[in-house]
Amino acid sequence: MIDSNQNDNHINIYEPHEWKHSTKVAGVEWKNPVGTASGTFQYAAVRWFYDVSQLGAVSTKGCSPVPWEGNPSPRTAEGPASNLNAVGLQNPGVDHYLEDDLPKLKKAGALVVANVAGHCDDDYMQVVAKLADSDADMLEINVSCPNVTHGGMSVGTDPVALSSLMDKLRPMTDKPIIVKLTPNVTDITVPARAAVEHGADALSMINTVLGMRLNIRTGEPIIANKTGGVSGPAVLPIGIAAVYRTRTVLPDIPIIGIGGIDSGEKALEYLYAGANAVEVGAAALFDPVAPLRIARELDDLLDSRPELAAKLAAGNTWR
Ligand SMILES: Cc1cc2nc3c(=O)[nH]c(=O)nc-3n(C[C@H](O)[C@H](O)[C@H](O)COP(=O)(O)O)c2cc1C
Repeated sequence: MIDSNQNDNHINIYEPHEWKHSTKVAGVEWKNPVGTASGTFQYAAVRWFYDVSQLGAVSTKGCSPVPWEGNPSPRTAEGPASNLNAVGLQNPGVDHYLEDDLPKLKKAGALVVANVAGHCDDDYMQVVAKLADSDADMLEINVSCPNVTHGGMSVGTDPVALSSLMDKLRPMTDKPIIVKLTPNVTDITVPARAAVEHGADALSMINTVLGMRLNIRTGEPIIANKTGGVSGPAVLPIGIAAVYRTRTVLPDIPIIGIGGIDSGEKALEYLYAGANAVEVGAAALFDPVAPLRIARELDDLLDSRPELAAKLAAGNTWR
């Protein structure tokens, strides 16, 4: 049955839900362990479908010091159980974010993770300086985008550059800093350790996996950027391994698991790998309600797993 919500002008397709199982990420309580993954959530679109305050958190599109146009089209290609994108961090800039997106999300009651993009250290610093006194609940530093030529993944694959960036950002804010890592490395625990040793309060992983598709009619790349980032169900095992391996070497750092989650069961798999919470990305491109559906599925799955649920609620993890 369609249920309209009194507080906002959206139609909520779900009945209101009493969340049973919360989690904590770097001391911040999430009402459930499921958030949206950056770049796949747009408030203007989803507000018609559900109440965003129902999510554990909302990670917003990466924002840069000035508006970025992103890469030329075509920018996406569908693949086997996957989505290839090279959007290139198109966004209207941090000032617009502070005037428009963030106040709307906070008014709607969302717990907001502000995702930060940059082409160089100075870009990241300018954005963090502006977000430091904002209403954002947590910051997520994207050092993992494969679709920009400077910054992004070039920082996340270089532990020295990442350490140096964190040394600059850490003193700028008391807000919890999540560092979002790329799977496009031999050993993700190396940048993970660098981020933690230089002040990260939490890690999120994975961003997209570098990939490419060719048009067999022309023999040329399908997307204009040539390469892009792979997301969706195909990357699930890569994300699970990243979380599991990182948890093994960094037993105390909060981890947000990302990659290929399209059901409560897959979210649960990340929690068993050692994540404190998860973010849902590409699944929301096909089904805007996916993050909330998955949160509800997970809430029920945790009923029969009281030991895991208790650990998460206390800010601990399964392993
Ligand atoms: C269209 C698109 C745009 C994205 N934009 C961002 C972004 O701005 N910042 C970021 O940190 N990650 C971005 N990502 C990566 C996702 O947040 C996520 O890490 C990745 O897609 C893997 O999760 P999934 O398999 O659930 O999609 C984007 C992904 C997609 C598909």
